[in-house]
Formats: sequence, C-alpha cells, structure tokens
Amino acid sequence: MLQNTHLYYGGDYNPEQWPESVWQEDARLMQTAGVNLVSLGIFSWAKLEPAPGQYEFAWLDRVIDLLHQHGISVDLATATASPPAWLVRRYPELLPQDANGTVLHSGSRQHYCPNSPHYREAAAALTRQLAEHYRHHPAVVMWHINNEYGCHVASCFCDRCAAAFRGWLKARYATLDALNEAWGTAFWSQWYGDWEEIFPPRKTPTMANPAQQIDYKRFYSDSVLALHRREYEIIKEHTPGLPVTTNFMGFFGPFDYHQWARHVDFTSWDSYPDPNDGVNGLAVNAAAHDLTRSLGGGKPFLLMEQVSSQVSWRPVNSLKPPGQMRLHSYQAVSRGADGVLFFQWRAARAGAEKYHGAMVPHVGAERSRVFREVADLGRELQTLDALAGSRVRAKVGIVFDYPNWWALNLESKPAQLDYLSRVLEYHRFFYDANLPVDFVSADGDWSGYRLVLAPHLCQLRTGVDERIRTFVRDGGTFLTTYFSGITDENEHVILGGYAGKISDLLGIWVEEWDPQPPGRILHVQWADGTHSEASDWCDLVHLQGASALAVLTNHFISKTPAVTQNAYGKGQAYYLAAQLDAAARTKLLSSICRDLDLEAPVDAPPGVEATLREKNSSRFLFLLNHTNTPADVCLKGHAGRDLLSGKNHNGRTILAPQETLILNLD
Ligand code: GAL
Repeated sequence: MLQNTHLYYGGDYNPEQWPESVWQEDARLMQTAGVNLVSLGIFSWAKLEPAPGQYEFAWLDRVIDLLHQHGISVDLATATASPPAWLVRRYPELLPQDANGTVLHSGSRQHYCPNSPHYREAAAALTRQLAEHYRHHPAVVMWHINNEYGCHVASCFCDRCAAAFRGWLKARYATLDALNEAWGTAFWSQWYGDWEEIFPPRKTPTMANPAQQIDYKRFYSDSVLALHRREYEIIKEHTPGLPVTTNFMGFFGPFDYHQWARHVDFTSWDSYPDPNDGVNGLAVNAAAHDLTRSLGGGKPFLLMEQVSSQVSWRPVNSLKPPGQMRLHSYQAVSRGADGVLFFQWRAARAGAEKYHGAMVPHVGAERSRVFREVADLGRELQTLDALAGSRVRAKVGIVFDYPNWWALNLESKPAQLDYLSRVLEYHRFFYDANLPVDFVSADGDWSGYRLVLAPHLCQLRTGVDERIRTFVRDGGTFLTTYFSGITDENEHVILGGYAGKISDLLGIWVEEWDPQPPGRILHVQWADGTHSEASDWCDLVHLQGASALAVLTNHFISKTPAVTQNAYGKGQAYYLAAQLDAAARTKLLSSICRDLDLEAPVDAPPGVEATLREKNSSRFLFLLNHTNTPADVCLKGHAGRDLLSGKNHNGRTILAPQETLILNLD
C-alpha cells in the first residue's frame, strides 16, 4: 500500500540522457513545479552495469542525493526493461521470437525472452545490487519493477519457451492422458504421445487448438509474472517496508492482471487517451482508472504516466488543448489516484521518443505554456493533502475476466464478439450516470456489491456458477448477457442447453443462438408496451421460471424472449438475449439501479463527471466539467467547501467550462 501523506506529483526522470550540468536545473525546476516524486532508472541498465558484473552507481548516487536535497523522493526502478548490448552479444539466445519464428533483435527495448535463464539471472543480479545499495537511502520511497511488462512483446514462441511450457503443462495436468482430454486432441488428429511433441501455438495453417492457445496465454502470463515476482522478492528482502509496483497498461489483454495484482503493493498504470477521442476517450480512460483501482482492491493507486502535451507514437499526435491535462489529472484523482506522474520530466533530444511531450519541453521551461500548466497543477496538488488515502466506494461490480477475454478472442466462435467493447458499453452507462463501479474477476470477491454485471461470460470456470448462485441467493442482483455459460476452463462446451450451469438462477435455458448480419434490426417489444431495437445476435431462450420483460417480434421464432428477469433466493437475475440498443440498455439499467437505490451524488448535465472519495468521516465530492460550456449542477442537498478555491457551495452550482471542484462535504 502507498504510504503517502501528500499526493504524489512528478514523472519519469532520465538524467543519464543529459550532462550533469542540467541536473541542477532539473532539481530547481522540479521544486518550482511542485514535483515530489520521480521514477528513476527505468532504462538505465547499460549505464548502471556497462560491462558484465561491473556496477557503476556513483552517478545515480549523485542524482538521488541531489533530488533528496531538493525534497524530491524517488520511485526507484529495477532498470531491467531494456537489456544492455553486451548481454545480448554474450547470450543472443535471450532474444524473443514471434509466432513465425522471427527473432526480435536489440536496438529498441524489451528484447528479452522471460524464460531465458541468462536474462533472468542478469536482471535478478542487477535488482539485488540496486536493492542492497539503496536500501537505506531516505529519498527512495517506493520501487518500480521493470516497465510495462509485455507492451511490445506480449508473447514469445522460442524453443526455451516451448520447453518451459512443457514443464508448466506437466505441473498442471500431470499425465498426457489428462492433457489430451483437456485439449480435446481427438479432434483433427492432435493427440500427443510424448511431452516433447508439444509446442507453443506457433503460426499454424488454420485455427489452432483453443485449449492449447488459452493454456499458452496462462503459461506466458505466469512466465512474465515470475520475472516480476523474482525482482519483487529480492527487493522485499532488502526493503520490506517500501511499497513496490509495476506499471500496468489499463485494458491490456495478454496478461491476467487480476493474478498480477496480487504481487504488487499498490497498482499503477500509464494513461494515454487520444485528445481527439472526445467523450468516448474520457469514458474509456475513466474505466481504466476504475480497473486499476479495482485491481488494487480499492486502495489508492498511482497514475504512473501520462503526457503533458502530445505523444509521438500515433499516426497523428494532437496536442492536449490548454486545461485538458489538468482535467485528465483530476479525473485520475477523482477515481482514486493518490498521485499524478508523467512520461517524462524533460523532453529527449535524441532517440525514438524525441518528439514525445514532457513536463519540460524542448523550448525549455520559462517560455512554455506546457510547463506553466504543469507547474500550476503541481502547486495546486500540494494543497490537497486531505485527499491522500481516501477511497472510492462502489456498490456495482462489472466482471472483467481475462481468460474469458482470451476465450472470446479465439478464432472460432459463432460471430465476432468484441468483449472489451461490450464490457465498456456497460461501464459507459455507469460513467454517464455518475455511479461508481469496480471491475472484478469471475472468481474475485463480490461481497459488498449490490449489483454485478457479467456481460458475455462465455467461459464459466469450475465454481463460478456457485459463486453467482450464492451472490444472488443472498440478495444480490446479477445481470448477464447472451453467449454466457458456454464453455468450461478448457474451452469444452457445457452440454445440455446453453447457460446450463446457471440456468436455475436465471430461470431460462438457451437452445440455439442466431447471430445477425450487420444492419439487420431486431424489433423489441417490452412488457410495458414500449418498443426498441436490437442487433448483432439473439439467443433462442426458453423460460423456466423467469418472466420475459421484452420479446423479439420479427424473429422467425415468434416472440422469443429478449430480456428476462428471475427472482432467485433473496435476489434477482437478468438475462439479455440480444444486443439491445444503447437507449434500451440505459432504460433497463436505470430501472435496476432505481430498484436498488443506487443514486448519483448530484444531478449534472452530460459531460460533467461526479465522484466521491471518502476517508474516515470526510467525504470529497469531485465535479469535473469536461465541456466548453458552463454546467448547472444540482448538489442534491450536499454542501461543502471547494478545496481548490476555498468557496462554499450548496443547492445548485454553476461550473465554468473545464472547471474542477473538490467539495469537502459538510
Ligand atoms: C509508455 C512507456 C514509456 C514511454 C511512453 C511514451 O508506454 O512506459 O517508457 O515509452 O509510453 O508514451
């Protein structure tokens, strides 16, 4: 857990790219800008160990001492994200390979295979040296392991990985009979008579074995996690009291972050919304903050990276207009961040990211709008100590499950179904309604939620049905949608009617599904006499206890249920058999939330985000006006003093364009 009493502010600092004369200026400017934390050493391996076993930390000592003299703390990296040239020359086999067998060479970054013993040992040795050397330095307040694991190399398919995969499979299945059964290898003559016959799912003529693909994802996520865990353990041996993180990447698919999050002391992520994406971009960014907070069990997280102005890796890298960086920063804080950091402190002169924005741009600090905005925000955050450690409390959980995502990404399915977009559609309702929401895994802790939504939970792992049953029986409201409860953890279809294992609590069973071609509209007739539309898909549902809240009127199966509701135990279970249009979804979810007394803290026009953070008896109401027009907000009985301006607000308040209020509620 973070141990801060202030909000953190700062960014990645790469002093090795600059002459020492610039460091003094950096420290002075950091003070001006209210910087109190920098991430140091992330890509410094070659400088810290210029030759095998020759560690040179004197320059880093000087940087850290200088920062310390200026009251700036350090998030010290293990520096293992980019292996040095000498290591690659010595052990070229540490380079990763893609699914076609192409070697990914050095000359950029992240060119290592997680199963290479040479990489692993060298990374562990460097981590140990750093941990020993800096264990007592008062400036070092947290550790930053590696950097964005998997961002460029989300999987390696080399022979070392093949061997490690076999070991992983032996541990999982013990016998080849069990593996053959789990992988369904009677299909297409895929039967294995010897472990050595098994390989990673490299490029195949057509669709590869689904269970093999999912197991490879699990294996690979575990392989990279093992790297992280090794560094984590080394650090903990030396500085058990300091919090450790690795920076996540929001909705990054290759690794199961629910598993990973168990091995960090606090979560953090790197946020790069495209300024051209408007409200959709904001909503997705909000969802990623919510995910990061949820992965950390609701504890405060860090916004580890964002850009002050513009990135350099999109086809078109537009600037954030004035004010937007501040609003984005407050969006993070309002959703549970205890710190706002940037990539990076000073814009690079050379290298592949030389056109990337920074807190100090190429023009220097004094003449720069960007630096002015950065420094203004830094000073402002210094006045918000009261927020440190406060939490967002959600009564709604959305199941976001990585193995399920992997399953829905397999080539073979009844129709294309973009799991992430669909999950985000559900999040979007809560975002627009200003209702806090967490993301949970299918086998996570759902206690504390009144409503859990599990869109498209195709893969129902053993035990998950019982978890849902208990949740609903005990009074929870559960909503799921078409193509749920279809397969087990090995991607074997659960026979006897779809949604079979949860059909009792849903009060339905599904006989067939009927994906719809693009453009075909299904007519939905609601029990209250209203009409709406659906598209993409419909399940052919049989009621067995549930009532149909809506039916389809133009499907060849007459009046097939589109939306069902079932009372089960003390709770309710809903099933959406078709892709309802956004308005109908909003109407249904609004009515469910009304039934559960889930209410937004304020009445605000679209484009205004409202969130609450709480600590002991203090409650902080954030209001963010993302629009370019004034917004009239009804505070619904809340009153309080704005921490930013010191003004009191009650009744109604008008937010200026792009204004942020943080009311300390009475
Ligand atoms: C992040 C990465 C940083 C930097 C940044 C540029 O993904 O962690 O090192 O490359 O992107 O936007």
